[in-house]
Amino acid sequence: MWLPCRCTLRAASFTPGFFSSPCLNVLRRKSSWNSAAFMPEAAAFQGVSGRDELRDFSVSDSDRFWAAVARQRLNWIRPFHRVQDCDLSRGRIEWFEGGKLNVSVNCLDRHVHTCPERVALIWERDERGSEVRYTYRELLEMTCRVGNLLRRHGVKKGDCVTIYMPTCPLAVASMLACARIGAAHNVVFAGFSAEALAERIRDAESSTVITVNQGVRGGKVTELKKTVDAAVQSCPNVRQVFVAMRTDNPVAMTARDIAMDEEMLKEDVVCEPEAMGSEDVLFLLYTSGSTGKPKGLVHTQAGYLLYAALTHRYVFSYHDGDVFGCVADIGWITGHSYAVYGPLANGGTTVLFESTPIYPDPGRYWDMVERLKINQFYGAPTAIRLLIKYGDQWVKKYDRSTLKTLGSVGEPINTEAWEWYYRVVGEGRCPVVDTWWQTETGGICIAPKPSEPDAEIVPGMAMRPFFGIKPVLMDTEGNVLTSNNISGALCMAQPWPGMARTIHNNHQRFIETYCQPYPGYFFTGDGAHRSQEGYYQITGRLDDVINVSGHRIGTAEIEDVVNQCPAVAESAVIGYSHSIKGQGVYAFVVLKKDVNIQEADLSKQLSNLVSGKIAKYACPDFIQFVTRLPKTRSGKIMRRVLRKVVECDLDGLGDLSTLDDPAAVQEIIQGHKKLSSK
Ligand code: WT7
Repeated sequence: MWLPCRCTLRAASFTPGFFSSPCLNVLRRKSSWNSAAFMPEAAAFQGVSGRDELRDFSVSDSDRFWAAVARQRLNWIRPFHRVQDCDLSRGRIEWFEGGKLNVSVNCLDRHVHTCPERVALIWERDERGSEVRYTYRELLEMTCRVGNLLRRHGVKKGDCVTIYMPTCPLAVASMLACARIGAAHNVVFAGFSAEALAERIRDAESSTVITVNQGVRGGKVTELKKTVDAAVQSCPNVRQVFVAMRTDNPVAMTARDIAMDEEMLKEDVVCEPEAMGSEDVLFLLYTSGSTGKPKGLVHTQAGYLLYAALTHRYVFSYHDGDVFGCVADIGWITGHSYAVYGPLANGGTTVLFESTPIYPDPGRYWDMVERLKINQFYGAPTAIRLLIKYGDQWVKKYDRSTLKTLGSVGEPINTEAWEWYYRVVGEGRCPVVDTWWQTETGGICIAPKPSEPDAEIVPGMAMRPFFGIKPVLMDTEGNVLTSNNISGALCMAQPWPGMARTIHNNHQRFIETYCQPYPGYFFTGDGAHRSQEGYYQITGRLDDVINVSGHRIGTAEIEDVVNQCPAVAESAVIGYSHSIKGQGVYAFVVLKKDVNIQEADLSKQLSNLVSGKIAKYACPDFIQFVTRLPKTRSGKIMRRVLRKVVECDLDGLGDLSTLDDPAAVQEIIQGHKKLSSK
């Protein structure tokens, strides 16, 4: 019974033997359910006895659930008078109306009152063994100094500040300082190019940017300030750039630049927090969609913070005193919700990881787990797959006995990676939680936990909806699929507080992308399978968005850049399965007539173009030059055909009769054979 089948594992706390009788199992569940210990709010929910019942209650009586949780877990300046006012069909999403609060007060001040010397941040710097700890008191002081500095330089409620920084305490203080003074932040991943940064600064209408002189990652120095200099040349609205020093190397400063470290020292350590409405903007975060233009998803104050905090506590079983290690960069939503807002709202200790999984060697994560005594480790499958290749010895070298929960995020985790994570990293002791969510959802929506303590965890499956989440699967006609053992488009039938509210300056696109495909439901863009047991397994994107090393990128975005090359007539970019990255980028390129360049040179040019305009991770692994692309008679590129060719699934090519020129496919098959045998 310990291992009913190879792929079904039970959580670590299960003791074989004792619960082998189903009767006892039921008895134990009822008698040991101490609702107040698990979730204090639950004591008031009559008749709820057990985590599964609590989950049902949170969906069927969602307003009561969220009202109680919001009152219990957030500090309000003024209480809300309405739990929610949402209409998914119209894209109207409002939570905790009438309420006023300050997010930075919820993340800092209230913990400073109770435990000022508790460690809030552990900055795991790129240089191994040089970690720095910041207590809640210190982080509040730093945040107040930045808040005052920004205020003194005219940043006010309603403004948007772009943050282009590596994962470091000052970046966190900058995010919280924005929240303190009522400005929105727009963190741009420091791996993005000058042009991608400029586009996001302009779209967000930021007039203030915060950066560092140089970044350090994996032992390599990156010129972040220079990238900002290049970006702001095409951002006429930027009036000031705050520059902090991550390294000792001076950088050229212009009249627009402000030396942040020096100026901060002149500021007071007390900064009056702004009273923010629940639905005021907390941040924008850009992500890719199926068009070339990234979208600035908007998250607001109360609902986002509450959802990040609740998921952080319950999905990972985070307890006071634990050290939480989310290794995501703050430039992504995972960094926002689980390196910053969730843990800090819970008064937790959170790790900021600046380095890479293999620097200076492939033992980096586990050395860090031992040194920092990490209790929950949250990472991406792509890193796990990479580390598997280096062998178990890099893991076993270090003491991982502090680990209690292992999390996975960003892409599907294959069974091999899951098993390795569970057996080798976690020594078979720690539940592995495969967490499904998106920039749009604000926090984890489907994960194996919370669940009854002895409930099974199936490898590679996100499994169970979180409190307040009601997933449904839809067929292509838009009917809700009610049976089990079925696949469909993954939608959410009910709003939840953590969901994005809109796309910055483009509510119409928000409605069209998420609300219109299945009226009355929120469409995630992913497909999913619901198993016989009712568990969810994500099957992948249904749109032209691909996932490279856990980074999301629209194929159209890459095509737009490739097409800018004067030699290129048109292109089609698709994702293909890659053993480490999850997906790799494969570009089919048609050249203009009379172009006379060596293909190898052109490939290099195109790669440089993509890394220069977007980021390195978006660079094609393969560029195949073709004379024409397979198209329908109406001129639509048939990506399905290209995908099958690249997957070498020629039997799966299916019906080609709608193609304008079926011979194009033969040429593509030949070209692919040549390229893949190189
Ligand atoms: C897309 C969202 C979630 C934060 C990091 C990425 C894919 C995410 C899983 C998972 C299978 C997953 C989905 C989703 N995805 N988590 N556990 N299993 N796929 O956020 O950049 O907004 O990307 O990542 O396709 O839609 P994001």
